[in-house]
Amino acid sequence: MIDPSLVRTHFPALASGTLFFDNPAGTQVAREVLDRMRGYLVGSNANHGGAFRASRESDAMVREARAAVADFLGAGRPEEISFGQNMTSLALHVSRSIARELSPGDEIVVTRLDHDANVSPWLLAARDRGCAVRWVDFDPAECAWSLDALREQVGPRTKLVAVGYASNATGTINPVAEAARIAHEAGALCFVDAVHIAPHGPIDVAAIGCDFLACSAYKFFGPHLGILWGRHELLERLSAYKVRPAGDAPPDKWETGTQSFESIAGVLGAVEYLEWVGRTCAPAAAVSGRRAVLRAAMTAIREYEAGLSRAMRDGLCTIPGLKIWGITDPARMAHRVPTYSFTLEGRHPRKICEELDKRGIAAWDGNFYALEVTTRVGLERSGGMVRVGAVHYTTAAEIDRLTAAVREIAAGRP
Ligand SMILES: Cc1ncc(COP(=O)(O)O)c(C=O)c1O
Repeated sequence: MIDPSLVRTHFPALASGTLFFDNPAGTQVAREVLDRMRGYLVGSNANHGGAFRASRESDAMVREARAAVADFLGAGRPEEISFGQNMTSLALHVSRSIARELSPGDEIVVTRLDHDANVSPWLLAARDRGCAVRWVDFDPAECAWSLDALREQVGPRTKLVAVGYASNATGTINPVAEAARIAHEAGALCFVDAVHIAPHGPIDVAAIGCDFLACSAYKFFGPHLGILWGRHELLERLSAYKVRPAGDAPPDKWETGTQSFESIAGVLGAVEYLEWVGRTCAPAAAVSGRRAVLRAAMTAIREYEAGLSRAMRDGLCTIPGLKIWGITDPARMAHRVPTYSFTLEGRHPRKICEELDKRGIAAWDGNFYALEVTTRVGLERSGGMVRVGAVHYTTAAEIDRLTAAVREIAAGRP
């Protein structure tokens, strides 16, 4: 069970008193992350591959971080983890290599619910190789796509299916394991964007059965750094766009130039923080090994957040003139994370966020780069949506303050 008052002691930024509901755009950073980054920069700041102490220590830290992230994602081996500037860069990078193997007439399937980082790389690949793009639409009432809608777009010429695990715009959790199966039945690869699910629940690449999965550490309490997992045989076989002196084996061939080692140290700190959560939530006897501890942590986080999600839904749903874009059916709450986007009749999303800011509440407005979502529901030209997102350091009292503030703004009170 998550104790929010205890976990909050690990986040120095929370002492500012700000109500952080901008979490979907980036969470606050755990103390373990700060310690690791500072420790790295002070104690072993060096480039890789050198014959001296700091370089050896730096390389050892990167190996440790890779193994930790492999456990976080359920990867079979650490070499399946590549680091990069952010998820978008990694997706663009690997898409170029996948595109080399495409022929004119092949098809790529993308969804209208995805962040553009899992859309544009594939649109560009299709443009470069003369492939067709097939779009999976979503139901605007619930902002969810169905497996039937996916099946309709997948066919014998499909070479890649790109899906998001959870929508950063509407909070919808998508059936990615089934999507991977459908892709494979058609002989296609499956790329999963796990950026938005990462802070909210366990990820298991083996259980999903996808071929690639990407996420970003700044969304799960770490620093700004992207992470790519790929099936080892694919990482080995695909030709990477790389410089000649860089290693030819994964992960080296996928990591372009000098890495942000301090950020990699920070990712290690983020996983160490989650290990601490796991150990405080699950009795030692119940879990052994880092993977099991991390799974226990993320399961406890998901359970705690379910209560927050219901409170957000209940609080927001009853505000006159407010429309939530996404799942609100109490029976379907397990199909969403506590990320809520809404519009308020007659109010511009930016103005609402400015009003929230006056009350010490950080929230986002716009399309959040989920361009197809706001276009599909007809909000792209009117400022998009307001988005508020909770994570496991959010408290029930903060949600009460948020919903009271939105209610006040809706009523036109200053
Ligand atoms: C669902 C989703 N995918 C991809 C991205 C892009 O991640 P990055 O900023 O690491 O490129 C984001 C960022 O907001 C996101 O929310």
